[in-house]
Amino acid sequence: MSGELKVCEKKSGLRIAMIGAGYVGLTSGACLAAIGHQVVCCDINRERLKVLEAGGVPFFEPGLSEMTTRQIAAGRLTFSSAPEEAARDADAVFIAVGTPSGADGSIDLRYVMAAAEAIAPVLRSGATVVLKSTVVAGTAARVRDVIARVRGCSDVYVGSNPEFLREGSAIDDFMNADRVIVGADEPAAMSLLASIYAPLAERGIPVVGTATVNAELIKYAANAFLALKIGFINDVANLCEKAGADVRDVAGGIGLDARIGNRFLEAGPGFGGSCFPKDTRAFASLGAHFGAPQPLIDALIKQNDTRKASLARRIIDKTPTGGRVAVLGATFKANTDDVRESPALEIIQHLVKAGLDVHVHDPKPELAIAAIKGVEWHFDPIDAARSADTVAILTEWQEYREIDLNALADAMWGVALFDYRNLIQPQAANAAGLDLYPIGRPEAVRPRPVAGSGAGWTESLAALPER
Ligand code: NAD
Ligand code: UGA
Repeated sequence: MSGELKVCEKKSGLRIAMIGAGYVGLTSGACLAAIGHQVVCCDINRERLKVLEAGGVPFFEPGLSEMTTRQIAAGRLTFSSAPEEAARDADAVFIAVGTPSGADGSIDLRYVMAAAEAIAPVLRSGATVVLKSTVVAGTAARVRDVIARVRGCSDVYVGSNPEFLREGSAIDDFMNADRVIVGADEPAAMSLLASIYAPLAERGIPVVGTATVNAELIKYAANAFLALKIGFINDVANLCEKAGADVRDVAGGIGLDARIGNRFLEAGPGFGGSCFPKDTRAFASLGAHFGAPQPLIDALIKQNDTRKASLARRIIDKTPTGGRVAVLGATFKANTDDVRESPALEIIQHLVKAGLDVHVHDPKPELAIAAIKGVEWHFDPIDAARSADTVAILTEWQEYREIDLNALADAMWGVALFDYRNLIQPQAANAAGLDLYPIGRPEAVRPRPVAGSGAGWTESLAALPER
């Protein structure tokens, strides 16, 4: 990694075009405006653009609407539907379009390449194109070639600035990042990137410069490693269930070792979202392509894929044939409306396929409603649970952590509560008359009174472990 980065004279008011105004492009664009730059966010999706031009945000991300409103009012954030118009006068053009999985798991770069072709003719000489989309090693070099071919000369730079924000905490992740990685192969491009992020560097955030190909690989290696942590703790959770241990205590115990760290060790229904699944697939595919296989990641992908079916099976086995099941949570995690590769959606699909009568609640259901068929939606979690034989919590929304367990138990016909995010205290579930089936922890099933023994629930509850 390079040492101290050289910043150009200009550290604010740089002209930035952001091509793609999705979760990453819009958040990054608004944040770059907030640190003083002049940003135009461009998207070819007319629906998204219409919402943006009307002062709204076309998806749910906490705090983003307030932030874009402030930046628009300050005159630092504008929108455009035409990449060639947005890019014309820019010092830096960020590409933040989608990079979905291809059929074989490799990354589909068609949107990145189309964006590069669209902006190439209008870029000013000496401008820097920055890949913010997650792309495999070597993509910046390909983009450089495409732009040079269209322009007939090599007078613009192409660098990389992978994004590490998470949905649900995107603004804080951007503004208080653990680090910013900037990849460039020419001093002028490196110095421009350093200038763009100088306001964050001044606040103590490490802005690290490196070669473009390193920056590209850092992004995939980071996501692959984080996904491995989750896959590992899910395997440990399976073991805890057999051994009578509690995965939360085991995770807490290993996480205190600073070499391991305590984050991303929450067992659950498997990782989902628009990134970990596709990025692990792309990483494995890249390894195979370069003849450097990634067997750990190959195994992780398989483990994560099969986990959802096996967790669905537990619910199906405890629900009468054709019975009613209530699912709480459909998004891939809390505080987002995003359902791309959501483990909850996949589990729901298994339940529907098994012939169960599936009722669903989610606090942000719009995208989920469009994504699944054959279920009934409810505005209230207790309504969803009415007459249910079983209930399953699949997303860790705060609302479910605080759910009124007595009301839930009263609404249900059955007593089985599956808690695949470990939100509910076993003692509280049992006290409400529910049996709790958590992840990586002992089941908290209320002892059934033995016929003729006279033992009631109250006496047996005293024997249950408390946490
Ligand atoms: P997204 O689908 O929400 O947004 C992409 C946007 O790009 C869409 O609105 C689309 O209409 C637009 N677009 C496509 N082609 C265009 C073009 N030629 N010109 C202008 N706009 C165009 O995707 P996202 O979640 O923001 O992800 C974007 C990239 O960032 C991906 O590579 C992803 O892996 C990466 N990433 C995502 C996250 C995340 O949390 N979502 C975090 C880090 C990195
Ligand atoms: C993830 C990374 O955390 C970001 O750093 C990265 O920028 C982003 O992918 C990306 O490249 O797009 P995100 O997908 O928004 O961010 O969400 P995470 O919070 O990482 O969660 C991903 C999945 O893992 C979710 O399904 C979540 O429930 C699951 N998870 C996460 C666990 O099961 N256990 C954990 O301990 C953490």
